[in-house]
Amino acid sequence: MAENQSINMINSYFEVQTRLEPYLNLVSEHVKKLGPCDTILESGAGRGILSLELLKNGKTVHAIDLKEEGLDMLMEDAQEQGLDSKLECYTADARQLSQDMFPDKFYDGVSSMLVLPLIKDTEGYLHEHYRVTKDGGTFVVSGPPKNPEDLSKSIEWWGELLKRRDDFQEIERHWDCVKEGIDKNRERLYNLYSKEEVADLVEDCGFTVEEVRENPLHLNNKGYLVTATK
Ligand SMILES: C[S@@+](CC[C@H](N)C(=O)[O-])C[C@H]1O[C@@H](n2cnc3c(N)ncnc32)[C@H](O)[C@@H]1O
Repeated sequence: MAENQSINMINSYFEVQTRLEPYLNLVSEHVKKLGPCDTILESGAGRGILSLELLKNGKTVHAIDLKEEGLDMLMEDAQEQGLDSKLECYTADARQLSQDMFPDKFYDGVSSMLVLPLIKDTEGYLHEHYRVTKDGGTFVVSGPPKNPEDLSKSIEWWGELLKRRDDFQEIERHWDCVKEGIDKNRERLYNLYSKEEVADLVEDCGFTVEEVRENPLHLNNKGYLVTATK
């Protein structure tokens, strides 16, 4: 995707997500689960809406993503809000982090919000997150429903919620852009899991699962939000 197109898409997601209560609820859940942690890795941070919330809560945040555009916008926001002294951003592949920059057992908390389906090698990805988590540290992972029809129902629900807003006309074009983006992304989703399957994968790589629940971003108790400790 051309850089401008990519920036427009990130902006559209931002305009929609920051007005969508179920998304903000998911962000709050990640923040809550990471409550005891001081230094946090956000893996696949995108535009960094969660990272910024963690910074507002006094955390030290290292945000990584394959793409730098969203991270640049996160850094700008953090600078504007005087939160950048506790933020580091890295363009990196979360499946293979450099040992020098991301040493073993470094982070109190590691968060992966809505990234897992985009990862081909789930086990490798989870092992890398296990490696960088401190003993006693927390890992939080969330993702969409296993059944694609449930994702379609959620999209309809998000549209209804947004249409009820007084400012819907202002964001209608962003919502159209997001729907288009989700449709395109559907072709790139490698792994869709039930919450029980994710819990098993997280346990298999060494974590102890503490809580397995639905993802508040999705309709009808679908999707997953799994919290584990090392
Ligand atoms: C659906 S977005 C979610 C962004 C953000 N976590 C959120 O919930 O708003 C998935 C993000 O994961 C990133 N991503 C995908 N594969 C990755 C990888 N191997 N390493 C790091 N980031 C990755 C994408 O670039 C994208 O920004």
